[in-house]
Amino acid sequence: MSIKQPTIEQSRVLLNRSDEIIVRGCQGHKRSHDMLSMGYPVFTQRASGARFWDVDGNEYLDYLMGFGPILLGYNDPVVNQAIRTQIEEGTIYSTAHPKELEVAEMLIDLIPMAEMLGFFIGGSAATSGAVRLARAHTGREKIIRCGYHGWHDWTQPEGIGVPELVGQLTLSVPYGDPDALGDCFRQHDNQIACVVMETIQGDGPPEGFLQECVDIAHRYGALCVFDETKVGFRVAYSGGSEYYGVTPDLATFGKACCNGYPGSFVVGRKEILSSKSCQSAWLAATFHCDLPSLVALEVVISEMKRRDGIAYQWKIGNRLIEGVNQACEAGGLGYRLSGLGPMPKPNVVEEERDRCIAMLQGCLARGFYLHPGHPMFLSLSHTEDDVEDTIMAVQESIADLK
Ligand SMILES: Cc1ncc(COP(=O)(O)O)c(C=O)c1O
Repeated sequence: MSIKQPTIEQSRVLLNRSDEIIVRGCQGHKRSHDMLSMGYPVFTQRASGARFWDVDGNEYLDYLMGFGPILLGYNDPVVNQAIRTQIEEGTIYSTAHPKELEVAEMLIDLIPMAEMLGFFIGGSAATSGAVRLARAHTGREKIIRCGYHGWHDWTQPEGIGVPELVGQLTLSVPYGDPDALGDCFRQHDNQIACVVMETIQGDGPPEGFLQECVDIAHRYGALCVFDETKVGFRVAYSGGSEYYGVTPDLATFGKACCNGYPGSFVVGRKEILSSKSCQSAWLAATFHCDLPSLVALEVVISEMKRRDGIAYQWKIGNRLIEGVNQACEAGGLGYRLSGLGPMPKPNVVEEERDRCIAMLQGCLARGFYLHPGHPMFLSLSHTEDDVEDTIMAVQESIADLK
């Protein structure tokens, strides 16, 4: 029995208004027009737990979770209470606040390779901070990147609006190819400050690849920076580094660590971060020790530990991957989830794109927001029943295609 598609008229109206006055309509990377044309809502009114309500009043079980930042759940009561208490005392001061030190100590206890750290706001600022530190430490200017690291100039070497001279300092290598990385270092011997590697891309690294990144960088006197922005606090607290047992020189975190608040941080070895050059590099910004973010981060760490949050994400994520894939295989549909449990990655067989989108629209109609391409995210608010209901929605939506 096919189900009526939800009305998303208010999303359309708001997007048209936004196009007139907001650069790129709204939240550029969210590709709102593409999503809207596929029947996805693009404006949310409110969210709670694992669910959100769009501006047309439709309710969805969310599998995107703000593109990763929501880990405990939207509107989490423990985070909210802690933030309320902090707001009563102020959110920014003319001096430092002890919370900075307390949270730094928690992170150093939590993340095995962390001996010192710096706080930032947003993942892009953290990755740029790590690059600044690596340049300061090595006295070199070029960097190698691999993956998505944000929107700052160095991350988009060929981007519109990025000076060619700046772009020339960033070299790019393919993921999972140590030979290409070695060649790149060889060709720019003595010039590379660091390689910035997004540790888990797609289905993860080939065996030994992350260790090779560290070894190759060190062979050429450079640093290895792991970008754990997306995977930190998900596959493991320290992301790919901890999951694969590899120690980089610096690592960056953001997204899930503050459950929707914008704090981020860079951790590293003391030998590097305490050096005169790193201590002299300018990394300060007005909001870098944003107290609501620090308070949220403190709650996230304690709630994740109390609720065994890493194991839980793996459990429900693996079940989602298994159940959705079985349903699609049985129904003869070219939509599959791959990747690691806490971040299932959708794959669509190109020739079957229209049928896959129709299946996803069936899920939307049933109140389940699954994505056609972006890695998805679980949270501690998704229940095991939610996941079973999702698998059933996929089965029913496939049956509707016939
Ligand atoms: C791996 C990685 N690094 C860095 C960033 C940039 O983070 P932000 O968008 O918070 O600036 C992202 C964002 O998606 C990311 O996935």
